[in-house]
Amino acid sequence: MSLSSYFCNLGDMDHTNPDIHLNLNVRGMKPSATLQINEMSNTLQQQGRHVYRFGLGQSPFPVPDEVVDALKINAFQKDYLPVRGLKELREAVAGFNERVQQIYIKKDNVLIGPGSKELIFILQLVYYGELIIPTPSWVSYAPQAKIIGRNITWLPTRKQDNWLLQPEMLERIAIDDPYRPRLVILNYPSNPTGYTYSSRQLKDLATVARKYKMIIVSDEIYGLLNFEGTHNSIAHYYPEGTIISSGLSKWCGAGGWRLGTFSFPPGLQWLQEAMAVVASETFTSTSAPIQYAAVKAFSGSPDIGWYLQKSRTVLKTIGYFITDELNKTGIEMAKPDGGFYLFHDFSNLKPKLRGHGIHTSKQFCEKLLQDTGVAILPGTDFGRPASEMTCRLAYVDFDGKKALEKDFTEADIKTVCPNIYNGTKVMIKWLKQFE
Ligand SMILES: Cc1ncc(COP(=O)(O)O)c(C=O)c1O
Repeated sequence: MSLSSYFCNLGDMDHTNPDIHLNLNVRGMKPSATLQINEMSNTLQQQGRHVYRFGLGQSPFPVPDEVVDALKINAFQKDYLPVRGLKELREAVAGFNERVQQIYIKKDNVLIGPGSKELIFILQLVYYGELIIPTPSWVSYAPQAKIIGRNITWLPTRKQDNWLLQPEMLERIAIDDPYRPRLVILNYPSNPTGYTYSSRQLKDLATVARKYKMIIVSDEIYGLLNFEGTHNSIAHYYPEGTIISSGLSKWCGAGGWRLGTFSFPPGLQWLQEAMAVVASETFTSTSAPIQYAAVKAFSGSPDIGWYLQKSRTVLKTIGYFITDELNKTGIEMAKPDGGFYLFHDFSNLKPKLRGHGIHTSKQFCEKLLQDTGVAILPGTDFGRPASEMTCRLAYVDFDGKKALEKDFTEADIKTVCPNIYNGTKVMIKWLKQFE
């Protein structure tokens, strides 16, 4: 076929023909689960139903004032910036790593991107290795690997370990093929569980990763939302193989600003360079005004410190409240360590749930949403088995600005966060029928 007739044929294609979709790299993939539940929630709301939005996980807090002011002042910045990121911002991120975590990484080892999600995707694109992710894990890691055509190895975790990856599991997949290139993603505090690793656990994981020369992507996007302000990075124990992933989306309330950061060890500069090549041919550079404003955010200030302290108190109070309430149904879950998610296992209710035709976590979430208007996500979206009654609840359906104005205690939940309070009560009442 000549080139001209080939293009002619493309133009003539019947785009409604389902066979055409076989040409897609994303064939068989659906839009993210989080977005789907959001759409279902929207439909219910349009029907006049009240929806408790515990599905989508975005920060409830406003961006700190001085960071917003920095953005206003820099609205005029119109030029393309260097592909690796604005020099002052890379310096600020290096300074942030040092100030907050005593991790010493030069500005030249920092890469800025339009969200850490994009950076994680590009890393997977340039690094030819097996992707290793614990289950449960954040919804986007696996689809990203699938889009690129990479192998994914899910490593199961257990409820009794707070869903944290055990070093023996990591060793088990490496032992038979020790030289295979591998990329392990660890996320802590975790989305979807809210739990984090102790120093001891990080050290043990680091020992295995070093033994098999695995590259670790340490997704610390919720690090500053560790409730006690004691976030610790695995980079302390495996500095040469750890890339720290972070950004503005969670601790700074700026998800929609799209700014993410990768901090590399010097020995992985070749990976950073490869990522910069892809960046230069795709997004070119992250939005200039946002980068200038981010300098302010990463440089820190007493007000930003105050904002973080308050955010942690509010989130801890709410996370503990919901956990205490749900534990009344006999699910026995530990209190979260940080972030704004809870991961429940309702397997104790299985016998009665089965009697109501509920056999999977997806059915569980659909029925809960239909009956009560409470939107949560099924464990399957995070890599858990369908028959396990696990679900993720994001407790961000409240006015973060109002909450920050208070000396927030549990007594404020009912008035300041009515959706959280009422949604939890409604859910408990619904669950009681299955006890
Ligand atoms: C665990 C985790 N990692 C990464 C991201 C991506 O963050 P962003 O692309 O906004 O930096 C998210 C966002 O929800 C997340 O929950």
